[in-house]
Amino acid sequence: MSFDTTGADNQSGDALENLLTENRHFEPSAEFAANAIVQAGEYAKANADRPAFWAEKSRELLSWSKPFTKSLDWSNPPFATWFEDGEINAAYNALDRHVEAGNGDRVAIHFEGEPGDTRTYTYAQLTEEVKKAANAFESLGLAKGDRVAVYLPMIPEAVITLLACARIGAIHSVVFGGFSADALRSRIDDAEAKLVVTADGTFRRGKPSSLKPAVDEALANPGHSVTNVVVVKRNGEDVNWVEGRDVWWDDTVGTASAEHTAVGHASEHPLFILYTSGTTGKPKGILHTTGGYLTQAAYTHRAVFDLHPETDVFWCTADVGWVTGHSYVTYAPLINGATQVMYEGTPDSPHQGRFWEIVEKYKVSILYTAPTAIRTFMKWGEDIPAKYDLSSIRLLGSVGEPINPEAWMWYRRVIGGNNAPIVDTWWQTETGAIMIAPLPGVTSTKPGSAQVPMPGIAVDVVDELGASVPHGHGGYLVIREPWPSMLRGIWGDNDRYKDTYWSRFDGMYFAGDGAKWDEDGDVWLLGRVDDVMNVSGHRLSTTEIESALVSHPSVAEAAVVGAADETTGQAVVAFVILRGSAVEDADIVTTLRNHVGREIGPIAKPKTILVVPELPKTRSGKIMRRLLKDVAEGREVGDSSTLADNTVMNQIAASLKA
Ligand code: PRX
Repeated sequence: MSFDTTGADNQSGDALENLLTENRHFEPSAEFAANAIVQAGEYAKANADRPAFWAEKSRELLSWSKPFTKSLDWSNPPFATWFEDGEINAAYNALDRHVEAGNGDRVAIHFEGEPGDTRTYTYAQLTEEVKKAANAFESLGLAKGDRVAVYLPMIPEAVITLLACARIGAIHSVVFGGFSADALRSRIDDAEAKLVVTADGTFRRGKPSSLKPAVDEALANPGHSVTNVVVVKRNGEDVNWVEGRDVWWDDTVGTASAEHTAVGHASEHPLFILYTSGTTGKPKGILHTTGGYLTQAAYTHRAVFDLHPETDVFWCTADVGWVTGHSYVTYAPLINGATQVMYEGTPDSPHQGRFWEIVEKYKVSILYTAPTAIRTFMKWGEDIPAKYDLSSIRLLGSVGEPINPEAWMWYRRVIGGNNAPIVDTWWQTETGAIMIAPLPGVTSTKPGSAQVPMPGIAVDVVDELGASVPHGHGGYLVIREPWPSMLRGIWGDNDRYKDTYWSRFDGMYFAGDGAKWDEDGDVWLLGRVDDVMNVSGHRLSTTEIESALVSHPSVAEAAVVGAADETTGQAVVAFVILRGSAVEDADIVTTLRNHVGREIGPIAKPKTILVVPELPKTRSGKIMRRLLKDVAEGREVGDSSTLADNTVMNQIAASLKA
C-alpha cells in the first residue's frame, strides 16, 4: 500500500496538533445522566473481560434461534469469529420479534419523499413487506449465499430489500446511487451478483433523476452474472425494458405472499459486502457477517444515542449507500425497536429549512448527521433553523469526518438549544459500528474530539514502530483487540485484507487515520494518513481518481490531492499533464470533470483541475503529493529537496500564474 512512513503526506503534523487544545467541557445535565441507558460502570465491566461483555450484550439485545456457547475465536488472526456456533436471523430480529412482542403498531419508519409525499410503516407493515420481498426474491431463484446488488435511492424499498436479503441469507451489496454505470458494473462483477434491485429513478432538487439507465449500461455487455433486475417505480420516468430480465417491484413483491418463516443463519454467515475506496485504484468489497455485526450495531446505537425506543424519534440522515445507512438506518434502529425518520432528498430542497421542518414535523429527538452538513447550515445562517420548533431534540450525533470545534459549538447552540449532548462518533466501513464516542450520560463532552473508545473496544495511538504514545502526543490510530462488528475480510481477497489492515503494525488493526491523545486522555482524529480523501464525509481514493483521469486520451499524467475546504472538509484538486493538442482545448477542464463523473460518479468530480507542465516526483518516481497540497491550499511550498528535479515546483508555479 502507498503508506508514507516518513509521514510526508501526513497532515497530522505539529501545526495541527498545536491547534488541538480544548478546555471547554459540557457535563450532561443531571436529568439526562439520571435517565441514561448506559452508566459509567459499563467501562470497567467491559474491560474486565471483553468477549464476555460482548456475549452478554448479544444475548440481551438479540434473539438467537440457536444460542451460542462461544464468544470470540481469535485462534487464526487476523480472521476472527464471534458467537460462531450460534444461529440468528437479522430480519427476524429487526421485525417479527417486535410484532410478536405486541409492538406491531409502533411506527418503524416515517418516510418523507423529496417531493413531499409521505409514507408510514408500522413494525407489522414493514414485517409484511419484507416477507413479501423475501418470497419474491426466492421466486426469482435467489438462494442463500447469492449476491444482490442494490442501486436504490433513500426510499423504504431500500431497507425492505436489505432486510429481505438478510432474511433469506442472500448477501447484499449496496452501490450508492451517485456512482456511475462503470462503478456499478465493476461492483456487480466483483461480487458476481445474481440480482439487481433498482428504481426508475429518484428526485433531486425538485427534478427527476434517473437510475435505471445506469443499470442498463452496466449490464450492456454479455457475460455478466445478473439474471434479473427488479425495478421500483419511484419517479415515473420512462425506462428501457429488457424482457425476461427486468421485472417491476409491484408485479413481483407486490403480488407475493406475506407469509414467510425466518430461519436462523450461522452467526458468521455473510450479511453484506460494501465497497469502499482504499489506497489503490480498485475499490475493496468490505465483508461483514451476521451475529457480531448486529451485536455491536445494536449496542452502540442504544448506548451512544441513549435510545429509549418507546419515546425517541431517531433520524440518521445518511444514505443507505454508505455504511452509516446500513448500521444506523437499516439494522440497529429496527433491531432496537426504534421509530425513525427516513428522508429521500437533499437539505436544500425545496428550501434551506427542509431538515428543520422534518425535525419539527416528526418531533425528532435524536439527530445523526455529518459535519459537512452542519458547516453548510452554518453558512446558510441561523435564522433558518430559528424558524422551526426544534425543542424535541435531546441528543445530536456527528459522523464521517472530524468536526471542527466551531461547527460543534454551533450545532450545540443553534440546533441543540445549548442543552443536547453531542456525540462525535468515529468509525469506518471496516469497523461496522461506532468505535470511539462519548457516552452521553457519562462523558463530559468536548468540542472537536471523538473522545473515548466504546466499552469493549481497545483503541490506541502508536508511533512509527507501533509503540503507544503518551498523552499529549500524536501518531497512528490502531485497534488492539478484535471487536464483534469488525470486517471479516475483503471479498475474494484475503491477502489484500491482511496487507491493508494487519501488516503495518504487528498484531494490530491499522485504521489509516492519524490521531492524538490529549492531556485528558481523549482521542482527536486528525484525518487520513494514506491516499484516501474525505469529501463531505465520502471516502474517495486519490489513486482511483487519478486512474479515471489518465484513462482519458487527452491526459498524459495526473496527480490528485485532497485540499482543505471550509465546507466539505476536503475537496478534490487534480493536477494534470495534457497530451499534445489537448493543451489548446479551451473546454478541457469541463471535459475531464465530466469524464471523472462518468467513470466513478458525480461525487468524485474534481472541484479544481490545474493543467501543469510537470509533476513533482522523487528519484524513485513517487509523486510528492504533499507539495501539490501546499499549492492547492495556497501555502508556501514545503521542503522539496528530495525531488528528482527541483525546478519542477517553479515550473508549476509559473504555469499556474500564466
Ligand atoms: O478518516 C475517518 C473518517 O472517515 C473514515 C471512514 O470512512 P467510511 O468508511 O466512509 O465511514 C464513514 C462513516 C462511518 C475514517 O477512516 N471519519 C469517520 N468518522 C469520523 C472520521 N474522522 C473524524 N471523526 C469522525 N467522527
